[in-house]
Amino acid sequence: MKAIRTTATPSTLDALELVDMDAPPPPSVGEISVEIKASSLNYHDYAVVKGMIPTEQGRIPMSDGAGVVTAVGEGVTEFAVGDHVVSTFFPDWLNGRPPQSAFTRVPGDGIDGYARERITAPTHWFTRAPAGFSHAEAATLTCAGLTAWRALFVDYAVKPGDTVLVQGTGGVSIFALQFAKAAGATVIATSSSDEKLERVKSMGADHLINYKEVEAWGPKALELTGGRGVDCVVEIGGAGTLDQSMLATRVGGHVALIGVLAGFAGPVQTALLFSKNLKVQGLTVGSRAMQQDMIAAIEANGIKPVISDTFALAELADAFRHQESGGHFGKIAIEI
Ligand SMILES: NC(=O)c1ccc[n+]([C@@H]2O[C@H](COP(=O)([O-])OP(=O)(O)OC[C@H]3O[C@@H](n4cnc5c(N)ncnc54)[C@H](OP(=O)(O)O)[C@@H]3O)[C@@H](O)[C@H]2O)c1
Repeated sequence: MKAIRTTATPSTLDALELVDMDAPPPPSVGEISVEIKASSLNYHDYAVVKGMIPTEQGRIPMSDGAGVVTAVGEGVTEFAVGDHVVSTFFPDWLNGRPPQSAFTRVPGDGIDGYARERITAPTHWFTRAPAGFSHAEAATLTCAGLTAWRALFVDYAVKPGDTVLVQGTGGVSIFALQFAKAAGATVIATSSSDEKLERVKSMGADHLINYKEVEAWGPKALELTGGRGVDCVVEIGGAGTLDQSMLATRVGGHVALIGVLAGFAGPVQTALLFSKNLKVQGLTVGSRAMQQDMIAAIEANGIKPVISDTFALAELADAFRHQESGGHFGKIAIEI
């Protein structure tokens, strides 16, 4: 079977190689074999293939994988041959709180991922895919979809009438926009591009801010809520955006601290944090049970992921170059 491997330490995009590998063994007890049909890009995968996250040389990248079950091992009742499935971000975190060990075994990082044609793995490494989804659509859920879901409905509980602020138009933020609108929230969306802001408007975003033109977008968001502040911010920038997020948030509001696109570390306005009684919750994707809840909600609400670009497996490095350019909107998919 074909797979992509990193061939340098630290990894570089030029060192991603399409290789031939032995096909995986047939499934044993409790396992399934899956023909992987699609993956999708996340910033985390980008950090792996650019060598920002150290991994073993020869690692198969990509945390997200979706495809078709081709064989089931003894004792497997959850899936049958022909079922469409999607991978989980933490194969060892099924429900409840994350076990510490989960963080070291993320596909495409601590263990081999889904830039490959086939895998045989324990049943619980996958959930069923939403009905009617293409494999590429299903593959967007593992990381970006579940992160947005957890930010809004697990760590916080968005309700109709809330105001949610989403930053930029990448994978996590576009899912957050879709989920927040489905929950009846008002959404303030930011972007560096007026053209992208028009696209989020057509998807239901209620208020738009170009964060390049309006550097003080926190006070602007506060103004848009009549001075009250937003209930929840989906914070994908990190150090460089946290101050503005805290300024935008209402007293007692919630900041879901997810990303690092505007810096890995920086000073925190601690007085602002406590004087507004804010909750800042760091999070890393979610459990298998959360993924199953998300898929039920996606089906009930007819939500479809937004994929702006699709590449073939052999073009994985080009797909990452496209992500690097910021030209995408929502997700970039890989057809395998
Ligand atoms: N903690 C977790 O579990 C978890 C899970 C998934 C992702 N993440 C993190 O979340 C972040 C987003 O991931 P992703 O996969 O959605 O990335 P992505 O699809 O590559 O998102 C890129 C987009 O983010 C926007 N952006 C970049 N810098 C920004 C800034 N300073 N302010 C506002 N928006 C900005 C830009 O939107 P515009 O072009 O519209 O300006 C850009 O196109 C990354 O840091 C990633 O590591 C964390």
